[in-house]
Amino acid sequence: MSMADAPLTDKRILLGVSGGIAAYKAAELARGLAATGAQVQVVMTQAATEFVGPLTFQALTGRPVRIALFDAAHEAAMGHIELARWPDLVLVAPASANTLARLAQGRADDLLSTLCLATAAPIAVAPAMNQQMWRNAATAENVATLVARGVRVWGPESGDQACGDVGPGRLREPEDLLQDVQRLLLGGRLTGVSALVTAGPTREPLDPVRYLGNRSSGKMGYAVATALAAEGADVTLVSGPVALSAPHGVRRVMVETAQEMHDAVLARLTGCRLFVAAAAVADYRPLDAADQKIKKHADELQVELIKNPDILAAVAARPDAPFTVGFAAETENLARYAEAKRRTKGVDMIAANQVGAGLGFDSDDNALWISWDGGDVQLPSMDKGRLATRLVQLITERLHAQAPAENPR
Ligand code: C5P
Repeated sequence: MSMADAPLTDKRILLGVSGGIAAYKAAELARGLAATGAQVQVVMTQAATEFVGPLTFQALTGRPVRIALFDAAHEAAMGHIELARWPDLVLVAPASANTLARLAQGRADDLLSTLCLATAAPIAVAPAMNQQMWRNAATAENVATLVARGVRVWGPESGDQACGDVGPGRLREPEDLLQDVQRLLLGGRLTGVSALVTAGPTREPLDPVRYLGNRSSGKMGYAVATALAAEGADVTLVSGPVALSAPHGVRRVMVETAQEMHDAVLARLTGCRLFVAAAAVADYRPLDAADQKIKKHADELQVELIKNPDILAAVAARPDAPFTVGFAAETENLARYAEAKRRTKGVDMIAANQVGAGLGFDSDDNALWISWDGGDVQLPSMDKGRLATRLVQLITERLHAQAPAENPR
């Protein structure tokens, strides 16, 4: 069963819609939530009604929208305190900068803010705003305050904005928010699954101050680790040197060389159900790293290189191999080379991406062609976070297809 089908029958969701152009996307979210069987009560801020008519939400959810705090007719039917006690989840999507500020301050000057203050249900917010407003220190502080109070923050994503800017602040896609809700209310589909992920480059020392390395930023592997953890997996991330901080809820082990990465992975394989090799491991290392800094006397310098162990192939070859996922960065013949790599390394799934001028390594976006025994799919260029979510969806489906009894969902 795919996540999109996971039923939310009779779950009660209070969907708060605040003002902003992304409010129209909340209509799709309301429809998706209702389609999974949830009861959806929409509460709009006054500003939100400037963007979408309340009747749209009423038609999609079958419930009149609540807007005003002091509405005699509605209060008679279900008072605001009663309404605050009603939901299993309060989701504010889109959450404008103003709404985030008001929630952070604990205000109660309209119905939505009052409900957020009066509810005991978990609260999640999906911010959407201009990228500069999102980057503003005031917004960052408000978000940090909300996180510290246990509010879940879903998104935002990076990309083109309605105002013409490009950057972080786009509302997380409704289908992804739907999954977030399902995960929160039903638990992740990888709960109980132990996963190992490699990420980043390796550094192969030439002497005490120099190394052979590569341009990998680690972003893709970190995004995969984050997406796995979001599905409830117990994730260990074996990372080469990168400028990224450890994803929330992920155990991180830092290494430098390919050999260290190999040893760190093999030492943690027991009980591991899934191995994702996203690291850009150096294929070769200097045979002998010099003990002292190499001096520039000679006009020519020969460095002898020796092959590093292939971590992915080593894991896939083990009799107790977990489900293995490899990456293939290619500059040409993407599908052919990637398929060949999948077969020679004996891995279950391969995710291939085109690299070269302006593509792949350091960018926030990527496209992936993913193939496994019996299927393949092309994922178009998107934010690495979304791409990782999609990849993890496919991995989850394959894992469950292998062992359906262990994972009924
Ligand atoms: O052979 P190639 O380096 O193109 O294969 C890429 C895939 O193999 C990636 O998943 C990478 O993490 C993995 N790999 C590895 N150990 C190596 C080389 C590559 O795990 N020494």
